Amino acid sequence: MPDPTLLTICGALRKASTNRLLLAEAARAFGPATTVDANLRLPLFDEDIETGPGIPAEVQALADQIKAADAVVISTPEYNKALPGVLKNALDWVSRTKGGPWRDKPVAVISAADGRAGGDRSQFSLRLAMMPFRAQVLPGPEVMVAHSRQAFDGDGRLIEAQYVKALTELMELLRAEIGR
Ligand SMILES: Cc1cc2nc3c(=O)[nH]c(=O)nc-3n(C[C@H](O)[C@H](O)[C@H](O)COP(=O)(O)O)c2cc1C
Repeated sequence: MPDPTLLTICGALRKASTNRLLLAEAARAFGPATTVDANLRLPLFDEDIETGPGIPAEVQALADQIKAADAVVISTPEYNKALPGVLKNALDWVSRTKGGPWRDKPVAVISAADGRAGGDRSQFSLRLAMMPFRAQVLPGPEVMVAHSRQAFDGDGRLIEAQYVKALTELMELLRAEIGR
């Protein structure tokens, strides 16, 4: 059997994003896979674009990546107690593509935030935002990395064992969902 394809989606665009570091840890914990990283630098959703020029190529590329992936992991920062606009924008765009790319897709949601709750509320709002798409979003274990700018060492590895344990378990469950 070929290695599964894991799509990683980062809700933060900045280069030094701690969510990006968390996704790298998630991919390592997932095990052998072809890892593809999504590009969320999309135009702002505008129905005039949809009805005029049509679905932008980069949006269709994202939808195709979701469709082709065996599993998806989304890591979200918390912006003002909710998921960031770039992530919601991507979800709204993808919802306008054909073929229901999220349908039955195994998805793990994780978060890293500078606050002490580790993006608890952003993760909750992301789970709600995912509901219309009927993906298989794993309920847990919850991975919410608090004080995320201090949570990784110089090599980008998670420092606290409790996070590594929960993330490893979540990624094992995600892998087990493939093909169910
Ligand atoms: C607009 C904005 C709003 C934020 N709101 C929150 C918040 O509600 N809760 C929180 O824990 N951190 C908040 N933060 C801090 C982020 O958690 C911090 O910037 C974190 O590093 C973002 O994730 P990243 O490292 O992947 O970019 C906010 C940051 C920004 C830029």
